[in-house]
Amino acid sequence: MSRTETNRLGTLTLRVGLKLPTEAFLVPVVKVQGVCHDFGATRVLHDVDLDLFAGDIVLMTGPSGSGKTTLLTLIGALRSLQTGSIVVRNRELRGLDEAERVELRRGLGFIFQGHNLFESLTALQNVRLALELHSNNRQANEQRAREILEAVGLREHLDKKPEALSGGQRQRVAVARALAPRPPLVLADEPTAALDAKTGSQVINLLKQLGKEQGTATVLVTHDNRVLQAADRIINMVDGRLVSDVAVGESLEICEFLSKVPAFVGYTPGALAEIAEHMQPRNLPSGTTVFHQGDVAQDFFIVWQGSVLIRNDDTGEELARLEPGAFFGEVALLSGQPRNATAVVVDDAVLLTLGKEDFEAGLQREKNFRDQLREVFYNRQ
Ligand SMILES: Nc1ncnc2c1ncn2[C@@H]1O[C@H](COP(=O)(O)OP(=O)(O)OP(=O)(O)O)[C@@H](O)[C@H]1O
Ligand SMILES: [Mg+2]
Repeated sequence: MSRTETNRLGTLTLRVGLKLPTEAFLVPVVKVQGVCHDFGATRVLHDVDLDLFAGDIVLMTGPSGSGKTTLLTLIGALRSLQTGSIVVRNRELRGLDEAERVELRRGLGFIFQGHNLFESLTALQNVRLALELHSNNRQANEQRAREILEAVGLREHLDKKPEALSGGQRQRVAVARALAPRPPLVLADEPTAALDAKTGSQVINLLKQLGKEQGTATVLVTHDNRVLQAADRIINMVDGRLVSDVAVGESLEICEFLSKVPAFVGYTPGALAEIAEHMQPRNLPSGTTVFHQGDVAQDFFIVWQGSVLIRNDDTGEELARLEPGAFFGEVALLSGQPRNATAVVVDDAVLLTLGKEDFEAGLQREKNFRDQLREVFYNRQ
C-alpha cells in the first residue's frame, strides 16, 4: 500500500472511528474524483482524488509547476474539466457550459494573484459590489463591507482607489471582497504572499473565523510556513499527483501522545510524525479483551477514546485504568517477554495501534537518526 493510501485510510477510519454522528453523513463541499488535466500533449494532473469538508482549512503545498493552480482553477470552475468528476456543493462541473460555470463561480470566494479590482471604484465600493451580487440590502452591505475591510486593517483606506494603495493593501481589498459574502468555499492562491506577518495572520484568522461560523471550506496554496498553524489538513502535490493528505489536528495530537512514551522521548517531530502515520485506529466495544496476560506481544496502544483497565490475572488486582492520551503495551515489546497483565476495554474505546514491526522500525529509525547526527558532528571537527 502506498504512503498516500495508508494516510487516507488512516484519516478516514479515524473520522468514522471517532463516531462523530454528523460526520458519517456529511456530504463534502467538494468531491474531486479521478481528475486528469492536459495542456496540449502534456498531462499536468494525474488521477487526483480529494474531498473537502465544511469548515476545513486545507493547505496545498508542492513544488512550482506541480499543478496546484491548475487544480484550484478546475475546482473553481475557472476552466473546463476534461477527465474525471468534480462536484461542488452538489453540482457536477463536468459538462457545464460557460454560463453555468459563471453562475457557479458567483457563489465562491476567489483570492488569486492579479486581484482584478475595479480601478475606478474605491476599496469600499469594490467590496460592496461583490456583496450586491448576493443581496440588495444596501445598509447591510455597507456595514459588512466596512467591517471586513477593518478586519484586514484597511480602516484608514476605505475611500482610496486601487492606484493609491500599495500591493499588500490591494491584496487585502481582494481578500475582503472574496470573504465579504461569506462564501461556502474559498479558493486562495498564495493569498499572503504580498503581506507582512501581521496582516498575513489577520487574513488567516478571518478564514478560520469563517470556517468556524459559516462552515466555509478553504483551500490555500501557500509556501508560507506561518499558515501551517491554521491548517486542518495538508495536501502535497508533486508532478501533478496528490502524494500525501494528512489531517493535522489528529496527527499533532497523536505526536503529542507519542512524545510522552519513554521509548520515544527526545524524538524529533519528524520521527514522531512518521510513527504516527503507521498507527491504525481500532474501534473496540466495552468488554473486549485487548490482550491476555501471557500473550506474545504484537502491538503498542494509545487510548484515543474510552478507557481500558489493566489487570493482573493472578491476583485479580486492578493495576491501572487508562484514559485518552494514556499508552500501554510497549514494555513487553521492548523486553520480548510475554504480556505481564491483561487489558480490557471498560468504556467503548478507540485505540490507536502500532504493530510490532512498525514499533521496532520507529525505534530503529531514530537510532539511525542519532547515528547520522553523530556522523555529522564528527565530520564537522
Ligand atoms: N495555460 C497553460 N498552458 C500550458 N501549460 C500550462 C498552462 N498553465 C500551466 N501550465 C503547465 O502546467 C503545469 C502545472 O502548472 P500550475 O500552474 O498548475 O503549477 P503550480 O503548482 O501552481 O506552480 P507554482 O507554484 O509555480 O504556481 C506546469 O508545468 C505549467 O507549465
Ligand atoms: Mg500556481
